[in-house]
Amino acid sequence: MRLSRYFLPVLKENPSEAQIVSHRLMLRAGMIKQSSAGIYSWLPLGFKVLKNIENIVHEEQVRAGHIPMLMPTLQSADLWRESGRYDDYGEEMLRITDRHGRDMLYGPTNEELITDIFRSHVGSYKDLPLTLYHIQWKFRDEIRPRFGVMRGREFLMKDGYNFDIDYENAMHAYNRHMVSYLRSYERMGLQAIPMRADSGPIGGEDTHEFLVLADTGESEVFYDSAILDLKIGDRVVDFDNWDDCAAICKEWTTPYARTDETHDEAAFNAIPEERRRTSRGIEVGQIFYFGTKYSEPMGATVQNSEGQKVPVHMGSHGIGVSRLLGAIIEASHDDKGIIWPEGVTPYHCGIVNLKQGDAEADAACEALYASLTALGLEPLYDDRNERAGGKFATMDLIGLPWRITVGPRGLKNGVVELTSRRTGESEELPPEQAIEKVAQIYAKR
Ligand SMILES: Nc1ncnc2c1ncn2[C@@H]1O[C@H](COP(=O)(O)OP(=O)(O)OP(=O)(O)O)[C@@H](O)[C@H]1O
Ligand SMILES: [Mg+2]
Repeated sequence: MRLSRYFLPVLKENPSEAQIVSHRLMLRAGMIKQSSAGIYSWLPLGFKVLKNIENIVHEEQVRAGHIPMLMPTLQSADLWRESGRYDDYGEEMLRITDRHGRDMLYGPTNEELITDIFRSHVGSYKDLPLTLYHIQWKFRDEIRPRFGVMRGREFLMKDGYNFDIDYENAMHAYNRHMVSYLRSYERMGLQAIPMRADSGPIGGEDTHEFLVLADTGESEVFYDSAILDLKIGDRVVDFDNWDDCAAICKEWTTPYARTDETHDEAAFNAIPEERRRTSRGIEVGQIFYFGTKYSEPMGATVQNSEGQKVPVHMGSHGIGVSRLLGAIIEASHDDKGIIWPEGVTPYHCGIVNLKQGDAEADAACEALYASLTALGLEPLYDDRNERAGGKFATMDLIGLPWRITVGPRGLKNGVVELTSRRTGESEELPPEQAIEKVAQIYAKR
């Protein structure tokens, strides 16, 4: 992409409505525009990161054996009356009446809809285990939408639902989800800590939330600092292996980590003092096992191996896809702007031409652009007739992790400059070596 042809409406001034850094930076970097309270348009740069996050979630879900599909945003109230949640859900649910007077709602979550699909098509234990998921817009009429995409009213969520014959199988689904979530967050450059949680309106017994540590987080969290050393890294996970998945979950759930809702002072104080941490966190996902809470009232049964009809055991599992943009920026920025982790960056590398119109500099930039593109990378080339200072400020604000700077002086010596956004360190290299280095950084991913 060439910046002269892109749509990147950056703001020079700090928007007054933004209280936290991620909201401020998303507005300033031209990623989103509010259309009404808690509802946003995703401008091209924001949309690109949103899609990258969505892709990571898709890849990791499919890797874990879960099946993608798509359910509608508008749902019939009748299904929610069957589960009893139509009345329970309260004012957060956006209720709509169609022209025939039928009660509809904009889905805040999809347990009822998926249970209906399941009961219509599945009747035997032989069709289990089954996990279906989708990534779809949700609406919750939050009383106080704030912090930009972090607490929106319309937001993008991955929600998945497992159907299993019994408790043990459902617990493997629970563990599988935990491991796939840990992998997903890690690929996004995030450390998200699973913490035992309260279940809220979804209901159920076993549930963990995943929290990213950030001062601006809405939850108070208490944890053992030992958990920060854990990494999935490049270990190969067999998602069909119950023991492997359970072992990874055990690793992550053994060190103490809880939100204020489930905090246990005595257990916390049993940790060596130097490892006790209190902080704030952003909830970027949650997994639940809730057994037969929906299958029983809605009649989602299967025949077991003895020929008896039994309600299926279910769980649901959500990732806040749009909230993750805010969470990543909260965890990764400096006073100049965003610093995207390589896994989610909208463009792999920026190209800054210090002297637009100089024949040699223009040609060198075009050559870099062509070579990077040929390697399957997406560069963002700042080819505008702007001063160098302005170009650097834009690149720093939008946070591409790598920048190649090209100017007549360097070219005389056969070099360009490769700069890391995170460390600010630069090195002068011949253009081919700069390309190779950038290619290597992304090849590892
Ligand atoms: N209003 C919102 N705006 C953006 N993302 C949200 C919002 N509400 C929930 N999410 C995301 O969707 C995920 C799964 O939804 P879940 O039902 O667990 O939300 P929740 O526990 O009600 O969230 P919260 O406690 O923050 O209101 C959450 O972990 C969060 O990342
Ligand atoms: Mg939650």
